[in-house]
Amino acid sequence: ASILVLNGPNLNLLGTREPEIYGSQTLSDISEQLAVSAAQQGHQLNCVQSNAEYVLIEHIHAARDEGVDFIIINPAAFTHTSVAIRDALLGVNIPFIEVHLSNVHAREAFRHHSYFSDVAVGVICGFGAQGYEFALQAAIQRLNSAQ
Ligand code: DQA
Repeated sequence: ASILVLNGPNLNLLGTREPEIYGSQTLSDISEQLAVSAAQQGHQLNCVQSNAEYVLIEHIHAARDEGVDFIIINPAAFTHTSVAIRDALLGVNIPFIEVHLSNVHAREAFRHHSYFSDVAVGVICGFGAQGYEFALQAAIQRLNSAQ
């Protein structure tokens, strides 16, 4: 199957960005490891990061045309602001898992609300980069059992 991993604003700074909160792995470390892990299990995985809301939306629209089966998304700060990305995900009707490196519920109140959680298959937060791997395993199990 085909899996798309989307990362929102400032996640290109991973590795140097508030490492006490977000860890020391870079986004390319995380992405490479995920792609290897997906390939080992017979799936194809693509990673995209953008700081721009409309670019993320256009990748979500393209995902439908490209036959993407599952999306793993860390919307980053757009988690707390973006009706537009939520609507894009609902519009293409591709199942998705929401991931956050940090435990957003243990942080500022404005991070406690997400525009995605109620329409996600599930939400993983607080496990750092490992959260993406957990999301991938959950996605693969779901994809395999849907066949
Ligand atoms: C984040 C949490 C968000 O609140 C924040 O704006 C981010 C990253 C996370 O992965 O922990 O940029 O999504």
